[in-house]
Amino acid sequence: MKAGENDTVESLIREWDGETAIARYDRSTGAWIFIAIHSTRLGPATGGTRMKSYPDAPAALQDAFRLAASMTFKYAATDFPMGGGKAVIALPSDFDPQDRPALLRRYGSLIHQLGGLFYTGPDVGTCSADMDVIAETGAPYIFARTPAAGGAGDSAPPTALGVFCGIQTTCEYLFGDVSLRGRRVLVQGAGGVGGRLIKRLRAAGALVSFNDVDDAVIRHFRDEIGLPFVTVDQVYDTPCDLFSPCALGGILNQETIPRLQCQAIVGAANNQLATPADAERLRAKGILYAPDFVVNIGGAMAITGIEAMGWSPAYAEEQVMHVRETLMKVFERAKAAGITTNAAARQMAEERLAAGR
Ligand code: NAI
Ligand code: PHE
Repeated sequence: MKAGENDTVESLIREWDGETAIARYDRSTGAWIFIAIHSTRLGPATGGTRMKSYPDAPAALQDAFRLAASMTFKYAATDFPMGGGKAVIALPSDFDPQDRPALLRRYGSLIHQLGGLFYTGPDVGTCSADMDVIAETGAPYIFARTPAAGGAGDSAPPTALGVFCGIQTTCEYLFGDVSLRGRRVLVQGAGGVGGRLIKRLRAAGALVSFNDVDDAVIRHFRDEIGLPFVTVDQVYDTPCDLFSPCALGGILNQETIPRLQCQAIVGAANNQLATPADAERLRAKGILYAPDFVVNIGGAMAITGIEAMGWSPAYAEEQVMHVRETLMKVFERAKAAGITTNAAARQMAEERLAAGR
């Protein structure tokens, strides 16, 4: 996603409604590191580290800001005692992968210097093995290290569980039946979360199709598993009961929404709506939207619960399954108030934030 034409790092920081923005230019690689602390009202700011290339530094900072705010609403909507933050490491286009461990260690030192203002875990472009490296200098503020390094491991499985529960709840609300048998579900992005979600959906009897851009992922799900593959050109035009975005943010917008032929949208990708107006567009079209920040909390909740609150993995799974109740409350509040589901979930989060802890 590109920032606005006139946005600069300075203008974005000046206009942001979050608490603290930290910028570090990593001179030896040319990478920018942005850490966005959106709100510590409910607890320490906690969010993943996204590592990828961006068109420019303002675009990276804007992504960090939006993702950090989304973490605030994610925890608040569920009443989980954490604050919202996110980090973006914006790699230069000529980044040498050999520099990765050293860059991650320098990033870990920065987190350590913050002394607990920001805790992090994996996100797009980073994984548990990266958390092990970041933790060499950043401990004890790093979640989701590998089990071999003493962490709770990958956040994708509990995230997929939460999204699966969200899909069940959506079916219950729409069709009066939690069963997924015979429901057509199109998953966009069959990666860490989407791939595990596909397995759960198939086991529950859903008719799953998928879309991805990675040849190895396509080969696995299309050729080895035998799932119908939907091309990138067709992904927004394919009829299905539920569409599950598990790849990118910003995909629900004025160009894609008119094309959609689904009854509901429930997926893991952060910030699926390009703008708040897109929630209205979905409502006007009669498509039920399960807010991403309500259904994708599973990974952050389970991993921080296990590592910081002493939860057992079984208890963590039970907690993640409460996505069902939270989402049902969102649907019911939206219906009663005649507002979008996104607005209803935001209200729930705002109320918790106003009450504080
Ligand atoms: P991942 O990187 O493992 O998987 C993403 C998949 O999407 C990959 O297979 C990739 O090839 C595919 N993809 C990329 N661009 C695409 C495009 N234009 N069209 C179709 N497919 C495309 O990432 P992961 O961990 O599965 O996360 C997916 C989304 O869920 C991200 O937006 C992430 O922020 C969000 N999320 C992930 C959580 C986690 O615990 N992993 C927690 C909460 C949100
Ligand atoms: N990427 C996770 C999310 O968007 C963030 C996270 C994962 C935070 C694991 C802590 C531990 O929800």
